Amino acid sequence: MESVKIGEDVFEILLPEEQIRARIKELAARLRLDYAGKTPIFIGILNGSFIFMSDLVKEFGDVCEIDFFKLSSYGDELISSGAVKLLKELNCTVTGRDLIIVEDIVDTGLSIKFIEQLIAEHSPNSTRVISLLLKPDSLKYDAKIDYIGFEIPSRYVIGYGLDYKQQYRNLRSIYVLREEV
Ligand code: IMP
Repeated sequence: MESVKIGEDVFEILLPEEQIRARIKELAARLRLDYAGKTPIFIGILNGSFIFMSDLVKEFGDVCEIDFFKLSSYGDELISSGAVKLLKELNCTVTGRDLIIVEDIVDTGLSIKFIEQLIAEHSPNSTRVISLLLKPDSLKYDAKIDYIGFEIPSRYVIGYGLDYKQQYRNLRSIYVLREEV
């Protein structure tokens, strides 16, 4: 099995790049139908969503706009500290627009909840959330995710935009920290 060794930790492959690519094609086809005749704004949450966002909008193919929020990360922790800070605001006007929030992974749901509240203040026409990954067993906040790539176990993952201590975002596949037996 393909694996990555980081210090004492071993990460095993969870989602190979071909599987990610195929799922993104399906998600993009669904978005094309749902947003036919509209010009949605894809809003990525930095840093983790940058690769997913890029592949998703290329597959989407139709007319759209793109912007980013940046939130504070977990620092170097493997679990959420529970605090979210806004580090970069949007540059576009969202009032009356159709927004698609693009997340790499929803864990507790705190980040998405935070973004949804922030955006609601600016009265968009519609807001939906797409996340490549969801850890359903970790959800603590009432966050509605409209499009989900893959549901995964509540274990730490890296690659395809997701980091460990800011590294490994550029791996093409998604890897999971091996559980000790
Ligand atoms: P939430 O606010 O708890 O839903 O966490 C969302 C954010 O936490 C994501 O956008 C990621 O930046 C980070 N995160 C959560 N789980 C993981 C993981 O397994 N690997 C890497 N980052 C993660």
